[in-house]
Amino acid sequence: MRLDVAFIPAEVAARDDLADRVVVVIDALRATSTVVEALANGARAVLPVPGIDDAVRVAQSVGRDRVVLGGERRSLPIEGFDLGNSPREFTPDRVGGRFVALTTTNGTGALLGAASARRVLVGAFLNLDAVAAALASDGGAAAVVCAGREKRFALEDAVCAGMLVARVADRTGAPLELNDAGAAAVALAGRYGADLVAMLERTAAGRQLIEAGLGEDLAFCATVDRHGVVPELHDRQITL
Ligand code: MLT
Repeated sequence: MRLDVAFIPAEVAARDDLADRVVVVIDALRATSTVVEALANGARAVLPVPGIDDAVRVAQSVGRDRVVLGGERRSLPIEGFDLGNSPREFTPDRVGGRFVALTTTNGTGALLGAASARRVLVGAFLNLDAVAAALASDGGAAAVVCAGREKRFALEDAVCAGMLVARVADRTGAPLELNDAGAAAVALAGRYGADLVAMLERTAAGRQLIEAGLGEDLAFCATVDRHGVVPELHDRQITL
C-alpha cells in the first residue's frame, strides 16, 4: 500500500496529486479534533468554511437556529460566534442535531484544499485507530495531509501522522510504501508518541493555546482513541 505524508498542504497542492488517493487531513491542535468531537457528540454535519463571512452566510442560508457558528483567530473565539475552536465546547447539548459552520486559521483550509481527493477523512489523536482501520480496509493509495501552522511544519500534526502510519502498518501486516516525510513522521512518533502532552506543550501551537488560557485543550486533544468515528468530507460537508 502506497502511503505518503505531506507536512504542509502546499506539498500536495496540485489537483492531480490527490485524485486517486484517500486522504486523511490532520490538524491535531485543534480543528480536526473539534470536528471529530462535534460529530461524535451528535452534530448533523460540520461545514468547513474559509472565512468569517462565509460562516455567517451559511447560517443565513441554512437558518440561524439550525447552525452553530464556531471557530477561532489566533486561537481565540470569533466575536459574535457561538463557540470557539476548543473541542471541549462542542458538547451534545450545544451541537446535537445541528449544523456547525467552522472557520479556523489552518485546519478548515486544509480540509477544503483536499476536496479533489477520491475520499477525504478527518483524523486526529481522538480517532487514530478508527482512521487506521478505515485506511487499511480501503487499501487504496493514501496520503496524510498535515494542516501545519501558517504554511509551516507543525510537530503535533507530524507526530499524529506518524502514529497513524504505524497503526496502518500494524493492521495491513505488510510493509507500506512510504515517502521520506512518511518515514520521518514515523520516527517522530517513536520519539514523542509516549508523552503526547509534553510534546504538545513544546509546540508553537501548544504554547499559543497555553498563553490564551486554553492549556486544557492540550490534554483533551491528546486523548488517543477517545472516539471510534471517521468523519468524511462530501460536497463541502463533513458527516459520519
Ligand atoms: C487551526 O486551524 O489553525 C487551529 O485549529 C487553530 C486553533 O485551534 O487554535
